[in-house]
Amino acid sequence: MSTPAASQALAASPRVHALLTRLHAASAAQEKSLSQSWFYLKRLFAFYLFSRAWAPAADDHMRDKFVALDQDKCQFMYLAARASGALHIVEAGTSFGVSTIYLALAVGQNVADQKAAGRTASGRVVATEKEPTKAARARAYWAEAGDEVQGVIELREGDLLETLDRDDMPAQVDFLLLDIWTPMALPTLKIIKPRLKKGAIVLADNTGKARPLYKEYLDYIHHPANGFRTTEIPYSGGLQMSVYLPETD
Ligand SMILES: C[S@@+](CC[C@H](N)C(=O)[O-])C[C@H]1O[C@@H](n2cnc3c(N)ncnc32)[C@H](O)[C@@H]1O
Repeated sequence: MSTPAASQALAASPRVHALLTRLHAASAAQEKSLSQSWFYLKRLFAFYLFSRAWAPAADDHMRDKFVALDQDKCQFMYLAARASGALHIVEAGTSFGVSTIYLALAVGQNVADQKAAGRTASGRVVATEKEPTKAARARAYWAEAGDEVQGVIELREGDLLETLDRDDMPAQVDFLLLDIWTPMALPTLKIIKPRLKKGAIVLADNTGKARPLYKEYLDYIHHPANGFRTTEIPYSGGLQMSVYLPETD
């Protein structure tokens, strides 16, 4: 059963709604645990005391965690992707693939709209995950979601600094989700930026709660010379929405 808010936001089959409700509940339960709060607190201390934004031990801790984008942010993201007609989306940080399901629904529906208007169109979500066990779980959930989701996703396994920096990327990227460990946000944006279309949307999660960790990223997108218009949406933890609007094409 989906909540009324979910059914109002998202066009999806009852099966996909039920899957999303289940996955968000599992992720929220993990995030509410004491051990997870302690983990985030330790990260902030490590940053302030030792300027260490991430450590290999943190990867070990996160290997069995969803850390899914919150449900209300996912709904916003889906609507933004639908409103902008995004066909080529890059997701930095896939984990168990929850946010990917929303992006895939949006791309599939945007392609269908184009075709219904008599235009030829194709689209895909390029998803990225470096942990093989997480990638396998994501694939299993997408299979459970079925064709409306699975057929639209291309998952690239490995370090996204390599898997996204290749010639076989979409020539134009309409939408980028940065839901990744904070030190990776700016390097990822810089890899994708040459492919961003004018008007492309870039979302970065948790920019309010993790503001010190996002300093370099926020400095970059706030600098007018870099071509972004940007605002933080006051969801829990903050969701930075930027639109690529360079003054010269
Ligand atoms: C916050 S989670 C993504 C959650 C996902 N967007 C969702 O809503 O379900 C971030 C993910 O990025 C992955 N990750 C971190 N560094 C990476 C890298 N260099 N290359 C690829 N994936 C990476 C982590 O393993 C983790 O699963």
